[in-house]
Amino acid sequence: MNAAILTNAAGAPQAVALSERVHWVGALDPNLRTFDIILRTANGTSYNAYVIRGSTGVAVVDTVKEGFAGDFFARLESIADYSEIKVIVLNHLEPDHTGALPELMRRAPQAQLFISQKAQSMLKGLLKQDELSYKPVLTGDFVSLGDRSIHFLHTPYLHWPDTQCAYVPEEQTLFSGDVFGCHFCDQRLFNDQVGDFRFSFEYYYAHIMRPFKEYVLHALELIEPLPLKLIAPTHGPILRDRPDRYINRYRQLSSPALHSEISPQQKSLLIFYISSYGNTRRMAEAIYQGAMQVPEVRVSLYDLEGGEVSPFVDLIEEADGLVLGTPTINGDAVKPIWDLLSSLTVVNLKNKLGGVFGSYGWTGEGVRLVEDRLRGLKLRVPVPGLRVKLIPTDAEIVECKAFGLELAQELMGIRAAKTLDISDLM
Ligand code: FEO
Repeated sequence: MNAAILTNAAGAPQAVALSERVHWVGALDPNLRTFDIILRTANGTSYNAYVIRGSTGVAVVDTVKEGFAGDFFARLESIADYSEIKVIVLNHLEPDHTGALPELMRRAPQAQLFISQKAQSMLKGLLKQDELSYKPVLTGDFVSLGDRSIHFLHTPYLHWPDTQCAYVPEEQTLFSGDVFGCHFCDQRLFNDQVGDFRFSFEYYYAHIMRPFKEYVLHALELIEPLPLKLIAPTHGPILRDRPDRYINRYRQLSSPALHSEISPQQKSLLIFYISSYGNTRRMAEAIYQGAMQVPEVRVSLYDLEGGEVSPFVDLIEEADGLVLGTPTINGDAVKPIWDLLSSLTVVNLKNKLGGVFGSYGWTGEGVRLVEDRLRGLKLRVPVPGLRVKLIPTDAEIVECKAFGLELAQELMGIRAAKTLDISDLM
């Protein structure tokens, strides 16, 4: 397969052919080390944009980050005149793909802009113009370029509400936006030529797509039936060698695994705690025993001191309920609890059951603060947090068991609280 040649003999940027009718007109950013504040990249990234030539006109799919517009326009000019551009497709409006858009619209004012339905308000916010001409599209919509056509796929939340993909059946090519992309910069461009980018691909999925697994699975329902020779994402290598591998990997990464471990009738409840003098631990053990009274609940108990955060995040992602135990020190929950909570932004916690408990010495604010955080992460917290001053008494241990039982019943949707037989719980 041909290698990419990014510049002409004079050193000017030039377009790279993906086929006779499709060209890459993007830009490389090898010096980037941090993307969007949170993502690290060891060798930079690329901003991939593409040109499709049909018998009746040219389409530009996505643009580049503003500071890289020079390379983008030089490559575009090497393959098309601005007067030929009939269509501009924006699969995603984040600034790394729309930085050159205002200038492109100025140079090709006749071109019609195609965006997703959900991108409309974002486009107005981006361009700050009241009078904007664009066409919002959904799955099933398409635009013809004569002997080539662009068919739109509604794939929201991969990874913004506005994201969509575009498919050209005559080329069997998918322009996937950020989907199947990664922050990896290599001038050889194609996945059969570049260095080993597996780590970057997995890292990108884990940080960008993982919170939206359900949406990934919906998108795959649209993508998997398509005959595909090539996937053209907006970052990283262009996937022309066995592109189905990347689709299969997305399905694997997005499919729940827990229910191959427990029966479909069971629900998983995880209790994590940290304890300085053993008091919060005693509470945790009693809550664990109380929750075990509901046989359909598969309850697990973990001391945060004995584990790494990352595997715990994996467990929490697929669990149905999460209960956290924290002492209060200096008016706050303790750092290991906050560290765990801050790591949960990469997973979807919406509507999981949450609960909080802890022992305290003076005022006990930690439990309420963690409850607020759980609600902020969109968990439901139906049972008020349980606090015990210093060492739990026998009566308080019974209360802890009742707390665990109530949480487990809530998890199973058992609304009428069971009358407790104290002797069962002692
Ligand atoms: Fe590559 Fe979500 O922007």
